[in-house]
Amino acid sequence: MNFHILTLFPDMVMDGLNTSIIGRAVNAGLLSIEAVNIRDYAFNKHQSVDDYPYGGGAGMLMQAEPVYLAYQAVAEKITERRSLTETEEHPESTAEAGSDLERKPRVVYLSPQGEVFNQKMAEELAREEDLILLCGHYEGIDERVLEEIVTDYVSIGDYVLTGGELPAMVMVDAISRLVPGVLHNDVSAEFESFQDNLLEYPQYSRPEEWHGKKVPSVLLSGHHANIEKWRREQSILRTYERRPDLLENCELTVKERRWLEEMVQSKETP
Ligand code: ADE
Repeated sequence: MNFHILTLFPDMVMDGLNTSIIGRAVNAGLLSIEAVNIRDYAFNKHQSVDDYPYGGGAGMLMQAEPVYLAYQAVAEKITERRSLTETEEHPESTAEAGSDLERKPRVVYLSPQGEVFNQKMAEELAREEDLILLCGHYEGIDERVLEEIVTDYVSIGDYVLTGGELPAMVMVDAISRLVPGVLHNDVSAEFESFQDNLLEYPQYSRPEEWHGKKVPSVLLSGHHANIEKWRREQSILRTYERRPDLLENCELTVKERRWLEEMVQSKETP
């Protein structure tokens, strides 16, 4: 998968994403991440990319043209690469309307006004071959270029940050770990928190006893069916206690629902 991040702070983004699991996946060729400096597309000699908003008001606005030129450069590169791959794979075919070559890449604008990012969105976006992430700064971006290029408005939560770089990094991280091969064991991406809409069960490592707290005995039993059952129950209980809103969209069996009710009742009655 290829991420293209349009930003005024390319170093911030690249420094943050070139380490650990994501950095390793980039080195392994499973992902590519490029940060495109919008300032390189400024059309004046001072390389300024912002101006005052018409109608007055606080702060500066990022202008439409540099953002548009940066987008166009990336979109052209994507089309060129796709056309090369297409010719390599099907040398005799010509590009048809509606083919992969015609398809415009998705462009996500990071903004507190967007739809709040979640695991389902990450799963959906992980199926894209290319994703362009547009980071705003100052008081935002001229509306006209947003209308022209943006396909998705995404927020990472109901709070306001100083720019879209951190949200873009959050999205790249959450999406990348779902790309096959990025996490060495694909099973863990499948079963972790939020899969199935349940939170992850508690985990323990050595020693068996720490600060007087013992590892639950079922985990030392070697009985896999019992361990699976205990983990599922802990996930359900934890979700009920910490994120009850998630349980509404969760498929629990009748038996599990009954078990949860009993647990809750036994906790409520001293
Ligand atoms: N830019 C500023 N705040 C943001 C947020 N919460 N999510 C996405 N982009 C943002």
